[in-house]
Amino acid sequence: MRQNLVIANWKLNGSMELVHEFAQSWDALDNSNTEAVLCPPAVFLAKAKEAYPQLTLGAQTSSAHTEGAFTGELAASMLAAVGAQYVLVGHSERRALFGESNSIIAEKVVAAQQAGIIPVLCVGETADERSEQRTEEVILQQLEQSLVSADLARLVIAYEPVWAIGTGLTASPEQAQEIHKLIRGWVAQKNATVAENIQLLYGGSVKPANAAELFQQPDIDGGLIGGASLKLEQFQAICMAAQDK
Ligand code: PGA
Repeated sequence: MRQNLVIANWKLNGSMELVHEFAQSWDALDNSNTEAVLCPPAVFLAKAKEAYPQLTLGAQTSSAHTEGAFTGELAASMLAAVGAQYVLVGHSERRALFGESNSIIAEKVVAAQQAGIIPVLCVGETADERSEQRTEEVILQQLEQSLVSADLARLVIAYEPVWAIGTGLTASPEQAQEIHKLIRGWVAQKNATVAENIQLLYGGSVKPANAAELFQQPDIDGGLIGGASLKLEQFQAICMAAQDK
């Protein structure tokens, strides 16, 4: 049985005060059937881990490189050293705003795995790609090219339709399930056992009002939460929806 997973992606938001607020309620968020993960800006990781060892932490991005002249970058091993157990890779904002291609993402996935961190690969189509009926083609290409050298057994995949991120528009549970099934099917072609166990998350305007319906879908194992993860009550309600699955 797969454990549910709910990841808070704070993006360029939050503060140490907000980490304190979340940590007070962590026991309610995180339980035996649902793991909650907090991805704050990376500068808060070390302090968060030191003050609250019970938190499961993740980073929002990491370098494809392990060391060297790469100003501003953080290696996966450095993030691991300050407590990150997960790292988001290939988030659509990184792809669109920071020029991350599938081939760079593929290197980042491998670098994270080599550092002992679980990469959360994000895939998703734009509004235009959906209206041109290219959704499946785009997702399969992202999977194929981003996971070319990955260990699929140490990976999470998040389906985040770009048109649903931060827009208030959410894929319907049926639309989301269709793509999650496609993704699990793609993994199954590589390894059927891994496909049974891999956690697949939905992301894109998840909120308390729609979380339960999405998480009830057979191939959706939790969510990657942006805006609603900055409000403790909302994130709490979303975690409860996962716990009820
Ligand atoms: P959102 O963001 O929940 O604000 O749509 C999700 C994400 O970007 O991971």
